[in-house]
Amino acid sequence: MMAERSRMTRLRCGAFLLFASCVFQVVADAGRPPVAAIASAHPLATQAGMEILADGGNAFDAAVAVSAALAVVEPYSSGLGGGGFWLLHRARDGFEVMVDGREKAPLAATRDMYLDADGEVVPDLSVDGALAAGIPGEAAALDHIARYYGRLPLAKSLQPAIRLAREGFVVDAHYRRMAQFRLALLQNDPGAADIFLQHDEVPDEGYRVVQPDLAKTLSAIARFGHAGFYRGPVARKLVEGVRAEGGIWTLQDLAQYRVVERAPVQAEFEGLRITSASPPSSGGVALAAMLNMLASLEWHELDAATRTHVVIESMRRAYRDRSVFLGDPDFVDVPVEWLTSAAHARRLAQSIQLDRATPSSSLPGRESATGGRDTTHFSILDSAGNRVAATLSINYPFGACVVPPGTGVLLNDEMDDFSAKPGVPNVYGLVGAEANAIAPGKRPLSSMSPTFVESGQGVAILGTPGGSRIITMVLLGIIDLAAGNKPDSWVSLPRFHHQYLPDVVQHEAAAFDADMIRSLTARGYTLKQLDSEYGNMQAIYWDRKSGQVYAASDPRGVGDARIGLFRHR
Ligand code: DON
Repeated sequence: MMAERSRMTRLRCGAFLLFASCVFQVVADAGRPPVAAIASAHPLATQAGMEILADGGNAFDAAVAVSAALAVVEPYSSGLGGGGFWLLHRARDGFEVMVDGREKAPLAATRDMYLDADGEVVPDLSVDGALAAGIPGEAAALDHIARYYGRLPLAKSLQPAIRLAREGFVVDAHYRRMAQFRLALLQNDPGAADIFLQHDEVPDEGYRVVQPDLAKTLSAIARFGHAGFYRGPVARKLVEGVRAEGGIWTLQDLAQYRVVERAPVQAEFEGLRITSASPPSSGGVALAAMLNMLASLEWHELDAATRTHVVIESMRRAYRDRSVFLGDPDFVDVPVEWLTSAAHARRLAQSIQLDRATPSSSLPGRESATGGRDTTHFSILDSAGNRVAATLSINYPFGACVVPPGTGVLLNDEMDDFSAKPGVPNVYGLVGAEANAIAPGKRPLSSMSPTFVESGQGVAILGTPGGSRIITMVLLGIIDLAAGNKPDSWVSLPRFHHQYLPDVVQHEAAAFDADMIRSLTARGYTLKQLDSEYGNMQAIYWDRKSGQVYAASDPRGVGDARIGLFRHR
């Protein structure tokens, strides 16, 4: 085994890849990548995945290891107390599936549970504290992936995470920012404060976060699989802890939790085949709609400012559809085929005027955010050609900021992704309606968009955190890929975003130059330059023709993309 580090800077990545291509092309087999690659949001998680590949694991085993390691070292982003979507591609037969480990509303949840007596949304009730937590899906997903797709037992693939939880990891500047953002809430919960704070304050850089209870919970999953988390002592402690803090979980909620295997959403764009998350994520549907709209507008013929304008207009229309039609397909009939059809896109695109913005208020419809680096994404390619794109979350930084005593499990606040009341925006400014109303056992609508893109030339694996902005970041990445660029470009591109409501174009400072700002403003847009950059994209590209594999981690984060040579089995 040889593993090399290609931390994402354009130059270093480029230099390494030159080396990779020279060496690995010789051994490349036409149908298989010459190397494996992992891009994740934390070096220790990438390392955990590489360790498991070196131990004979495939991409799916590595995905278990990386997910679990992220649960330990990126506690503000994802974890056993949360959920996510794992998009899998099995090389042997081309089988593709989305493992839906999204949280579910507790059985005691009600449609109006976050409203006061006057029917108004109680601020923060769906974001802070145990009542904000859905029933977690990550442990069930790891068990499922290991059981049906992996080669190694959980006892092996969870080992790196157990070690990291026991031995601890070191606080960096990003951890400190996230802890500062949620400090008052973390201080409020003794379970969370004990683990994530240092003497009740944001830990110093270099402080070691040790999580013995989490190590025990991971060990229980390693030993008993699903039952190690959803039944027995861990389940009892979770329910007791949640109820003591005003939550409504029951043992039945946990015992009943199962992942769902769902067919991913497919789309075509300029000769590319896009495979992405299906409902209860809105990602694949919105991506397909936006790409279809662009294709119907022959947007390549347009000048740069008009192209940006029609990208924004397609975002607006896709997010409007999201707010009306998208929800958990086990509860509502989501018209995926219609929403992703060329005919629907053509109809939506017809109302786009090339010289002016369409006010969102004029579209038929019913009637915030952090730096986009909580929640996490990783991409994996193994040397057999198996692939994983996974986006995992506990929602807001440090989720609900509650750790049930004795579990080490930080609860999610994913209930905020439901529409607490029609038309009232959630923490990401998203509005929703009936399709995404709360119901017992229902999964909240998500924007998480783990994605594969395939062409005759190669295969891409990408995704990012970023709340409502996830889908438009992936869109910009796909457009950049279609233009012939590589992962280092997709992950570092300056970003812009429109989500129907509020009717503004949010953008990073570098996204628009003065000419573009003038041209968009003249069309009637309200532009909102964000204070900070957003997103944390992790991406891989395997160029089948040249035999090169590229991996890149968003320069906005602290992630790590590596390429490693492992023997085929
Ligand atoms: O599932 C969703 O769409 C959200 N819970 C994701 C949250 C997220 O990406 C936070 N990052 N800024």
